[in-house]
Amino acid sequence: MSARRIDGKAAALALRQQVAAEVARFQGTTGRVPGLVTVLVGEDPASAVYVRSKGRATVEAGMQSFEHKLPADTSEADLLALVERLNADPTIDGILVQLPLPSHIDANKVLTRIDPDKDVDGFHPVNAGRLAIGLPGFVACTPLGCLKLLRAELGDLSGKDAVVIGRSNIVGKPMALLLLGDSCTVTIAHSRTRDLPAVVRRADIVVAAVGRPNMVKGDWLKPGATVIDVGINRTDDGLVGDVDFADASTVAGAITPVPGGVGPMTIACLIRNTFVSAARREG
Ligand code: GUN
Repeated sequence: MSARRIDGKAAALALRQQVAAEVARFQGTTGRVPGLVTVLVGEDPASAVYVRSKGRATVEAGMQSFEHKLPADTSEADLLALVERLNADPTIDGILVQLPLPSHIDANKVLTRIDPDKDVDGFHPVNAGRLAIGLPGFVACTPLGCLKLLRAELGDLSGKDAVVIGRSNIVGKPMALLLLGDSCTVTIAHSRTRDLPAVVRRADIVVAAVGRPNMVKGDWLKPGATVIDVGINRTDDGLVGDVDFADASTVAGAITPVPGGVGPMTIACLIRNTFVSAARREG
C-alpha cells in the first residue's frame, strides 16, 4: 500500500485565500485593515526566515504587517515595555514575539504580558486555559493547522483513537485537547512512555511532535492510519520529519510530507487567527 500524501501547501493556500476574501469584506464594511506585529530579538537566521514569511503572508492576505527587529542585547524591561505599547495600539490585532528569545530574557514573562485577545500565537496561559475548558480563544497555530488537515482528510474524527507523540505546551498538549474536543480517544505519549511502538500501533490518528528525525517507522503503524508529522529536523540529508516518510508510507493510509505538510498550515492559521482577532475586536 502507498499512503496518500496530504498536501499541506495546497490546504494552506486555500485557507489564506479564504482569509484574504474575508479581510477584503471586513475592510469594505469597517474601513479598517487588520494588523499583525512580529517582534524578533537577535539574529537567529532560522527565526529571521520564519518572521519574514509570516510578514509576507500577512501582506498577501491584505493585512498590515509591522516588524520590530531588536538587537540581541535588548533588556527584558525594554521588551516588556514594547509589548505594553503594542497591547495599547488600536491598529494592531495580533502580536507575535518570535521564539526562542535570548537566554537573559524570561520568555514566559514576555508571553504572559501580551494581551490574551491579541495573542494570535495562542501561547498565553489564558488562551491555554480557554482551550482546556472549551471557551473561545486563540489556539496555537501548529496544532490548529494539524486539526484542519485531519478534518479535511477524515471528516468527522469522533470516536477515533489518536496518539500524540510529544507533550510540549505549544504542540503536544494543545493538539491532544483539540482532538479531545473533536471526540477522539486521546493518548499523549512521550519519552517515558513504555513500548511506544505498541502504543502508536493502536492509533487511527498519529501526530508526531518530538523533534527526533525519522523516529516513527512503518511497523509502528496500524495499516491505514492517518499520520501527521510536525517534526522539522535539519540533518545532513536536509529537512526531515519525526516520521520515516518512505517506510511509513507503505503502511499508513495518508501522511503529511516534510516539508510541505504541517509547516505551511502553521502560517496560514496565524493569518486566520489575526483576522479573527480583528473581527472580534469590531464586535
Ligand atoms: N518559534 C518557532 N515556532 C514559533 C511559533 O509558532 N511562534 C513563535 N512566536 N515563535 C516560534
